[in-house]
Amino acid sequence: MSGATRARDRNWSVLELLRWTTSYFEEKGIDAARLDAECLLADALEIDRLRLYIDFEKPVTPEERDHYRALVRRRADERVPVALLLGKKEFWSLPLEVTSDVLVPRPETEILVEAALQAMTDAPLEILDLGTGSGAIALALAKERPDAHIIASDVSAAALEVARRNAEKLELASSLEWSCGDGFEPVGERCFDIIVSNPPYLAESEARELAPELSHEPKQALFAGPEGTEFLLRIAEQARERLTPGGWLGVELAPHQADAMSGWLREAGFEDVMMHRDLSDRARVVSGRRPRMGE
Ligand SMILES: C[S@@+](CC[C@H](N)C(=O)[O-])C[C@H]1O[C@@H](n2cnc3c(N)ncnc32)[C@H](O)[C@@H]1O
Repeated sequence: MSGATRARDRNWSVLELLRWTTSYFEEKGIDAARLDAECLLADALEIDRLRLYIDFEKPVTPEERDHYRALVRRRADERVPVALLLGKKEFWSLPLEVTSDVLVPRPETEILVEAALQAMTDAPLEILDLGTGSGAIALALAKERPDAHIIASDVSAAALEVARRNAEKLELASSLEWSCGDGFEPVGERCFDIIVSNPPYLAESEARELAPELSHEPKQALFAGPEGTEFLLRIAEQARERLTPGGWLGVELAPHQADAMSGWLREAGFEDVMMHRDLSDRARVVSGRRPRMGE
């Protein structure tokens, strides 16, 4: 019997599988090797990830191991992100469905949600989430402000279907209106108290240097054009007319784009332009307000 056959046939405990997979993922250059292994094994065993720690010594059945092995292979060989393998991702403590039609929501986008919530008054609000994808931002805001009316807009009809399913499952659909089209076009002349957007902001020239995992997410969610700032500039030029007087705009971007975006917002007549930083002190969101008085 070969070593590989013996390894396949013997009983593996939860802990042994985790250790083996962690070192295999590390060899393959996967960053969060242990965490990824835990998430995949918990899914294969249909248990909560923390339950693994109680079940460390438990043997894993051959059927469970087959399912797990298939997930491990796709993670290591095809570099499919864990969220897409599992079809789910948590954002703002909301369990969201994700598919290859949407960007997997990132933790840094919660900075935009926090900034938007702080900018809100107590009055009923009209909100636009431009480029809603899975609905992550719109749904987080709907959860925190059930009195708000939120338009979630995207150029991708397939992404909007995912967002709609998420809203239904989370019982937040009554706060939301869906709108499909390019940029501000589908909302016509309507004005909003708050506009939030996590637009595509990568440059096409960066594509080859990016982590292989990104090739599993929609290109139109990632790439804005040759410079990467094309969509940001469109927002800076067009958002002011879509805001009510005193209305607030918040946009996620890459840290190196924050100075340029701040300048464009000031040129477009925004006031209170500011950067919102992550825990590593990198600017991840730029915001500004339409002045209350005068044009
Ligand atoms: C970076 S993803 C953000 C998704 C989601 N808001 C989030 O934060 O996870 C950008 C989204 O903008 C959408 N998008 C790209 N180009 C667009 C356009 N011209 N008009 C409207 N939406 C667009 C993409 O389909 C994608 O869903």
